[in-house]
Amino acid sequence: MSSSPAQRRPFFCGNWKLNGSIAESLALATEVRNGVATLRNADVVVAPSFTALHAVAKRLEDGPVAVSAQDCHFEDKGAFTGEVSAPQLADVGCKYVILGHSERRQLFGELDAAVNLKARAALRAGLSPIICVGETLAERDAGETLGRVQAQLDAAIAGMTDADLGRCLVAYEPVWAIGTGRTATPGQAQEVHAFIRASVARRSGVAPTLRILYGGSMKPDNVRALMSEADVDGGLVGGASLQAESFARMVKEGS
Ligand code: PGA
Repeated sequence: MSSSPAQRRPFFCGNWKLNGSIAESLALATEVRNGVATLRNADVVVAPSFTALHAVAKRLEDGPVAVSAQDCHFEDKGAFTGEVSAPQLADVGCKYVILGHSERRQLFGELDAAVNLKARAALRAGLSPIICVGETLAERDAGETLGRVQAQLDAAIAGMTDADLGRCLVAYEPVWAIGTGRTATPGQAQEVHAFIRASVARRSGVAPTLRILYGGSMKPDNVRALMSEADVDGGLVGGASLQAESFARMVKEGS
């Protein structure tokens, strides 16, 4: 199932991962804000480290660029040493939270069930979850791409109402394309994006407006081809978001 991209405003989120002091994050955020100041036709979001969230959210307050966290805990409060809750993220000014990123799944053992609990916690706190799914190279080579994506998606959105789903975004991030310089072809991305939309459509009427982002070595010179696919609605961008000029150029090219 495909639907008119006109129903979906382009959405670009820069995932800064584990990078930046408060001063560096403020400088980057300010440059991004200035770089996209004239842009009216896309949603632009930056996702700094926890330690810089508050400062960056204050700096971007009342402007067009929103702030996302990169993870959250699934309980609102309690004896969970070292964790950060969704209400705390809302408190510092976040509007979004990235959940189930492949680095969390692969390096920190995050399970599908935890992604679901975290997404529900985010929704309770008024945040929009950006739910990441994607196959490894071994899974792709074994012909398991769609099955893996389906399983991750089903688990992540289990039990959500249409209203909940209407506030979520999904990011398709093939693990083999993240930070490798090897981008999925537009056709490979479109196949999975269309599959995700069709899968959501079987359970909810929000599918035509669900924004599905591509992630994995998205750059200014490949964004246009990816965005020309019917079901690619934006990007979750790592490396190329750490330089404001290239991130702003990518957002403009892709919007
Ligand atoms: P990348 O990262 O753009 O550096 O490949 C994308 C991501 O991990 O979200």
